[in-house]
Amino acid sequence: MRVVSGIQPTGDLHLGNLLGAILRWVRMQDEAQCLFFLADLHALTVEVDPSRLGASVREMAAALIASGIDPNKSIVFRQSAVAAHPELAWILQGTARMGWLNRMTQWKDKAGKNKEGSSVGLFTYPVLQAADILLYKATHVPVGEDQKQHVELTRDIALKFNTDFDVDLFVPPEPYIGGGTAARVMSLRDGNMKMSKTDPSDMSRINLTDSDELIGQKIRKAKTDPEPLPDDESALDGRPEAKNLVGIYAEVTGDSVEQVLQRFAGQGFGAFKPALADALIALLAPLRSRLEEFRKDPAELDRLLRSGSERATEIAAPTLAAAYDAVGLTR
Ligand code: TRP
Repeated sequence: MRVVSGIQPTGDLHLGNLLGAILRWVRMQDEAQCLFFLADLHALTVEVDPSRLGASVREMAAALIASGIDPNKSIVFRQSAVAAHPELAWILQGTARMGWLNRMTQWKDKAGKNKEGSSVGLFTYPVLQAADILLYKATHVPVGEDQKQHVELTRDIALKFNTDFDVDLFVPPEPYIGGGTAARVMSLRDGNMKMSKTDPSDMSRINLTDSDELIGQKIRKAKTDPEPLPDDESALDGRPEAKNLVGIYAEVTGDSVEQVLQRFAGQGFGAFKPALADALIALLAPLRSRLEEFRKDPAELDRLLRSGSERATEIAAPTLAAAYDAVGLTR
């Protein structure tokens, strides 16, 4: 089993990134060889601020490590530091079909009505993602629901390449969606909207840098409904805010939703919210102080990332060479 996943260096991390992706990665480290990278080449598919990109990459890398991604167990690196990613992506552009990419919902969502004005990179984004995965012969790719289609496309690209060039090179990966109840963390102000760094209300999200006091305040003010908590998970359907808060509590404490409901069934949010705030603070306070340490010592972070990209380059090299070979470009 080999796990590969990437995250875009968006900066300003919040609880949604942490629970939706990072903590699931942390748990996978003991079960498989893992490679985790900052998808900074993918960041170029939309407008970037060159003066901010480097800082965002560092912040995200620090957050990963502060959250428990251990550079001694996992390979952590910047995508742009391993040239094999864009190299293989180019080769795979000969395999991926326009029709396949046209069906990608992320492309349709992000380009919207402005297809003509979108970057070519936004369209071929999933081909670079396929290269990210296939380079390392990943068997499992932990991603959110919204990325499942890209992993399925990666399978199609792998199979077509293997067939077209009569090789047994690429391993079709499996998306790995499970592993968390709060895989989708919703806004604290509207249980139907994803928690997002672009929401104009800061009260809608918990940032990794929020103080204990602010976390407490945001949870106290989080939108809820007047009903007590039910004893049965299905009764949370139709109560998006309650479902979200219970999901967050479960994820943070490592309990199942059923277990959480057993503990709080019949109680109102007056009792539940302080417990939730405490659990969040217990999770985030140590993480915040580790982040502070990295901020004081950026050279250490750069050293860790450099060593990660060296190891990734080594693992990627034979796959890349075999891909060149397969298409007749033996070097
Ligand atoms: N597209 C992913 C996202 O937006 C990030 C990503 C890039 C990724 N390359 C990847 C995820 C490879 C898994 C594997 O979340």
